Amino acid sequence: MIIENMTSIHVEPIAQLEKLCFSDPWSEKSIETELSCQLSCWLVAMEGDTLLGYVGSQTVIDESDMMNLAVHPDYRRQGIAEKLVAALEEALRERGSKALTLEVRDSNAPAIRLYEKLGFQQVGLRKNYYRNPKEDARILRKEL
Ligand SMILES: CC(C)(COP(=O)(O)OP(=O)(O)OC[C@H]1O[C@@H](n2cnc3c(N)ncnc32)[C@H](O)[C@@H]1OP(=O)(O)O)[C@@H](O)C(=O)NCCC(=O)NCCS
Repeated sequence: MIIENMTSIHVEPIAQLEKLCFSDPWSEKSIETELSCQLSCWLVAMEGDTLLGYVGSQTVIDESDMMNLAVHPDYRRQGIAEKLVAALEEALRERGSKALTLEVRDSNAPAIRLYEKLGFQQVGLRKNYYRNPKEDARILRKEL
């Protein structure tokens, strides 16, 4: 498996994985827009031509926000998300980012476990942040 920067060839498979993993997925168009956004850093985990997972972020000055993270259901519990987030942290540190913040559904136990394992701490709760279904978001943060 290799982790590399997202390019245009990854946009369609990422959009497909978004649909598979989320009730409110990003469209292909909105993912494509990230390619030309200076603030964005997206990484993909690839095995040959197969997309295993991806992570997406935006950085404003020295604060980064993780917007997306998903691993294909067939490849979960193999440490891929952990490697993606570690690679993202490294890339963001190199850009001078000092902290990484993210939102996660209150009921998303696998993701919350993952972020706890990686040293994220809860810093807030956003009531009814998500739709389909309506749910609170935990706000997690890690100093880089
Ligand atoms: C959350 C997600 C990205 C994890 O991907 P993954 O590659 O399976 O995660 P990893 O194998 O790197 O797991 C690392 C750690 O996270 C935790 N974890 C991951 N999946 C878990 C699960 N189903 N149950 C409990 N803990 C879990 C464990 O602590 C695990 O370490 P361990 O295997 O040593 O116990 C994946 O389940 C996913 O894509 N879910 C759907 C999309 C999503 O919810 N994204 C996050 C939005 S905020």
